[in-house]
Amino acid sequence: MVSSLGKDLVGIEDLTAQQILSILNTAEPFKEISERRIKKVPVLRGKTIVNLFLEPSTRTRISFEFAEKRLSADTVNINATGSSVVKGETLVDTARNLEAMRIDMVVIRHGSSGAARFLAERIPSNVINAGDGAHEHPTQALLDLLTIRDQKGKIEGLKVCIIGDILHSRVARSNIFGLLKLDAEVGVCGPMTLLPQGIEVLGVKVFRRVEEAIEWADVLNVLRLQLERMKSGFIPSLREYNRFYGVSTARLERAPRDLLVLHPGPMNRGVEIDSAVADGPHSVILKQVTNGVAIRMAVLYLLAGGAPELAEAAKQGGEGEVP
Ligand code: CP
Repeated sequence: MVSSLGKDLVGIEDLTAQQILSILNTAEPFKEISERRIKKVPVLRGKTIVNLFLEPSTRTRISFEFAEKRLSADTVNINATGSSVVKGETLVDTARNLEAMRIDMVVIRHGSSGAARFLAERIPSNVINAGDGAHEHPTQALLDLLTIRDQKGKIEGLKVCIIGDILHSRVARSNIFGLLKLDAEVGVCGPMTLLPQGIEVLGVKVFRRVEEAIEWADVLNVLRLQLERMKSGFIPSLREYNRFYGVSTARLERAPRDLLVLHPGPMNRGVEIDSAVADGPHSVILKQVTNGVAIRMAVLYLLAGGAPELAEAAKQGGEGEVP
């Protein structure tokens, strides 16, 4: 069965505004499952899902696993060090061997941009991109959108500035696509060396000074420096970076009380964000994490063929299992 999202979720760039809203709306009834004493509904009973994480992850990997388990799917976790990937097995061979054991979905994180699409085009199982190189991290952007909508009541017309290492960030790309599709205004701010050349063509505003970005924005999404993707020479030092681009309490002093501060994690406290901001009144960072489980439940449910309008009924059990 082809779902309302198609076979796979590779990137936000591929989705329509309607599909994005459908995921956000489907996540709403699923939020409540995680607040129950017994956090389990039979929606994906009988489905087998492989979480293939070939790059480190805390939030995304655990959030997918919770989402799968709370929907009663059977899950298997594979990471690079514990698998035959270290012996030189290719991604496709790994996936084909998993398919030979009759799986339904693969959630993949990979260090190479394009890995999720490459896999999606070669196996019949549903593929969900949990972050591929500097390309996309669609479920992160979806949970960011849900968190912004929860707090602000809307996305359309909001001014959202993404601050930090835009060049190496799959989170930035997915957020830019999603926010623009939902008619937000998007700004980016960071050192010249960490902004993709010509990024304005995407329809975003570029800020050189973090103070200007903060003054303009309703929402800040603060990103970590992706040191693991940098060869060298992008910034003089972490101390310099913090001095010019760090989001600090001093810089937020004149910001309105309802300015939101998001961060996808992992945070480098004292570099891109100060602890007092990360743990302060503007921060919705842990709300993002909570919403991540509901968003991943929604994506799993929809890709498995669940109908958005039946999500509320589905979680009550009985007839709610997806075909
Ligand atoms: N936001 C995010 O992708 O975090 P992890 O790398 O811990 O999954």
